[in-house]
Amino acid sequence: MKIWVPSEEAAGVLADLPDVECVVHDGRGPVPDGADEVEVWIPPLIPVPDTPGLMASMKRLRLVQTVTAGVDPYQPYLPQGVTLCNARGVHDAGTAEWAVGAMIAALRDFPAFADAQRRGEWTYHHTGVLADARVLIVGYGSIGAALERRLAGFEVEIVRVARTAREGIHAMEDLDALLPEADVVVLLVPATPVTTGMVDAGFLARMKDGALLVNAARGTVVDTGALVAELVSGRLRAALDVTDPEPLPEGHPLWNAPGVFITPHVAGSTPASTRRALRLIRSQLLRYLAGEPLKNVITESY
Ligand code: GLV
Repeated sequence: MKIWVPSEEAAGVLADLPDVECVVHDGRGPVPDGADEVEVWIPPLIPVPDTPGLMASMKRLRLVQTVTAGVDPYQPYLPQGVTLCNARGVHDAGTAEWAVGAMIAALRDFPAFADAQRRGEWTYHHTGVLADARVLIVGYGSIGAALERRLAGFEVEIVRVARTAREGIHAMEDLDALLPEADVVVLLVPATPVTTGMVDAGFLARMKDGALLVNAARGTVVDTGALVAELVSGRLRAALDVTDPEPLPEGHPLWNAPGVFITPHVAGSTPASTRRALRLIRSQLLRYLAGEPLKNVITESY
């Protein structure tokens, strides 16, 4: 069975599996020959340029196992009969840690102090703080739960929102009422047709004056123009790991909007995520070879 894997490390964790031939394709170089023999594809962390074309060329493809939580580059183009599994859990630690760091950096003015340091200026001033804040987690899943665990020591109040309401978790329909009360709004929803542009001018307008928007989801969840308008007015602040467009082009108004802290989609790009991804790849392939049910199978309602 031929498998395309994104790295030598991934090939390494599958090396002892019987009848498995791993070919490394990291999405950067030329596409290797033999696409029509590939049965399992493990795409790289950063999506390859022509994902639909590549999947269409894999005539024997049965399984796409991503190393990302988000499957937006694959789900809309998945050929009939191919199973798609995501990397639920792999990025919980990295992304939750990024979100805590980004919140603290933004609230405590770390980016501005770093700029002042480079200028050799002692810019003493009071800052915001995480303590006593109400943190609204929009898209409460495994990353949200990991974030909540990490915030447990920060004396904040957590409010949870997910697609469907359950014990202790609000439904999306409650957002209108919850947004004006939140000091920090953390986006963790997957990118789907429903969440595209969800954070529009109306959503942002409901946020409290001075509130912080943290986006660790996808750039397309936020209407960039509407966010820039709120930032320019000085009413909201933002910490963004993802943007729309991405990469953010040179000269884009978001780069220099006031009160925004941007990182280049790095929340899950750490050795912690790599270790967890390698464990997942191996365990999923063992299940696949044994004909056992796979974990993290993506269904229509993802
Ligand atoms: C990263 O962006 C992921 O979807 O895991």
